[in-house]
Amino acid sequence: MLKSHSLLRLTLSLLSISSLVLATPLQTLNSKSDCNTPTINLTTCSPQYGLGPDFECANFSVPVDHSHPNNGQTIDIWVSRRKANGTSGSLGSLFTNYGGPGTVTSSLLQRFVAGIFPIHSQRLLENFDLIFIDPRGSGNSNPVQCDNELWNKQPELFATDDASFAALVDFNKQFAASCENLTGPLYNFLDTVSVAKDYELVRQALGADKIHFLALSYGTLQGQAYAEHFPEHVGRFALDALVAHDNYDISTIMTEAVTYETTLKQFFSWCNSTSSCPLQNQPVEDYFTTLANSTELPAASCKANGECQPSVSGEDFLFNAQAGLLFVDPPFLPNWIEFASNIQSAIMGDSSAFSNLIQAQKEVPPTDDSVWQGRATMCQDWGSWATSASDIKRYVDITSHMLPLTKGACEGSAALAYCAGMPVPVNNPARRLDECQMSKLPPVLLINAFYDPETSAVWADAVREQVPTGVNIWRDGAGHTSYWLYGDTQQAIDDFLITGTLPADGTIFTS
Ligand SMILES: *[C@@H]1O[C@H](CO)[C@@H](O)[C@H](O)[C@H]1NC(C)=O
Ligand SMILES: *[C@@H]1O[C@H](CO)[C@@H](O)[C@H](O)[C@H]1NC(C)=O
Ligand SMILES: *[C@@H]1O[C@H](CO)[C@@H](O)[C@H](O)[C@H]1NC(C)=O
Ligand SMILES: *[C@@H]1O[C@H](CO)[C@@H](O)[C@H](O)[C@H]1NC(C)=O
Ligand SMILES: *[C@@H]1O[C@H](CO)[C@@H](O)[C@H](O)[C@H]1NC(C)=O
Ligand SMILES: *[C@@H]1O[C@H](CO)[C@@H](O)[C@H](O)[C@H]1NC(C)=O
Repeated sequence: MLKSHSLLRLTLSLLSISSLVLATPLQTLNSKSDCNTPTINLTTCSPQYGLGPDFECANFSVPVDHSHPNNGQTIDIWVSRRKANGTSGSLGSLFTNYGGPGTVTSSLLQRFVAGIFPIHSQRLLENFDLIFIDPRGSGNSNPVQCDNELWNKQPELFATDDASFAALVDFNKQFAASCENLTGPLYNFLDTVSVAKDYELVRQALGADKIHFLALSYGTLQGQAYAEHFPEHVGRFALDALVAHDNYDISTIMTEAVTYETTLKQFFSWCNSTSSCPLQNQPVEDYFTTLANSTELPAASCKANGECQPSVSGEDFLFNAQAGLLFVDPPFLPNWIEFASNIQSAIMGDSSAFSNLIQAQKEVPPTDDSVWQGRATMCQDWGSWATSASDIKRYVDITSHMLPLTKGACEGSAALAYCAGMPVPVNNPARRLDECQMSKLPPVLLINAFYDPETSAVWADAVREQVPTGVNIWRDGAGHTSYWLYGDTQQAIDDFLITGTLPADGTIFTS
């Protein structure tokens, strides 16, 4: 593969010479009619990224503030390309976004290269030039920095009275100020539309007329933002595990809270009927409610290693247990067997798996940015309608009755609390996608599982309602996203991306 890289560079310089434009990269040739077209210099990845010879890398300059591109500051975002390695050549550039917000693409790729995480099917790798980006503020793209000591003292999220709400808002303000101080002006431009505009500049630099896109989870919001702003450059878009952004009120948050509760019940019955579940034939639901109802659970391993908080509240347990439900049984991701054994350990006196991580002085690049970059992105895409303790209390009162297991804890309700009073601009507030822009799209594939603990099937339908060319497929199963199950749903996604073939609208898969 090293050889083919040298070949590639050789081809480029031959091209340059034959066009009598010496030492000019191909991208510049494509765009010489437009002096404003950005350029990208994809070259051998430096060893620090651990990606080996199949990947090319670039530091790509983008404006911090896309509405003032020419007189403002710029940052570099990290872009990588893995060229199609099949025998029939490339079908074009397939962009990716793995959600979070704050999932670090480059660290997923390292696991792929190490052979422990099959990030895409072989036929996708063979047919597309895959474009990987660490979204702004994450990974190698100017990662968000905050005051870690402050972070480690964050208060409980569900404030119960005026004093605890005031403490929460005070914390949110101080925390955001520390992040802005340590990150710079970028901190106020981490919304999803800014990320979509970065992707558009990469498209221009690559000289691609259309891009294809596989987006998972929160990445689906970016896919929608890209489609809305640049419909003429949309090729084949597949959005798996959808987030809808048309509305932001209690129904938005409760939709997530309900899908968490519903999926948890799936887990209980799965555990009781699956011999590999370490809690089979045990009262796992009682264990769960006991833990959720505790005020202070010991976390011995955290105490020993200092990497997480030495004790866990019932609230911590509920917020952190949601992530334990993400994947049922893929072997290379945290799965339900692991979740059950974490509950077992907690019942036996060590709740470390449900403890909040203590953030050390930040490693650069971080392997996961969901806590700092993710928080900033959430607050700039949603804001918070909680302006007093009673706003939070009303939500908690309703959900603790209607959802007795999970009591309203979920990522969305966490954001309602941690974005309250946060002094960052809501650059990308919730609203319906623009009808005229969306009417210009080619078919878009929308995918959701019925029992997804985070992104409800309800949201997939809400997105469909705003995408006239949308085709929904469903998976009658549990878990967050369907692509990484390597079953029939992935086959359908790959078929669409590679051949354009769409399954019948409303098709329900089981794997
Ligand atoms: C592209 O990047 C490589 C490595 O950083 C550098 O050696 C080369 O000069 C760059 N090419 C251009 C055209 O900027
Ligand atoms: C991108 O920037 C990083 C950090 O400054 C540097 O180590 C790396 O070599 C750069 N990569 C390329 C392809 O220029
Ligand atoms: C393309 O790369 C993948 C992943 O490394 C590999 O499994 C596959 O065999 C390659 N295909 C070809 C045609 O070389
Ligand atoms: C900003 O950073 C400076 C220097 O690192 C520090 O002295 C100051 O306290 C910080 N301010 C905030 C609000 O974090
Ligand atoms: C587990 O399944 C058995 C057999 O189907 C049933 O009798 C039992 O009540 C179930 N236990 C729980 C905790 O659901
Ligand atoms: C939780 O604790 C409260 C009192 O602290 C008690 O009334 C309630 O029954 C408990 N619920 C469960 C499911 O243990």
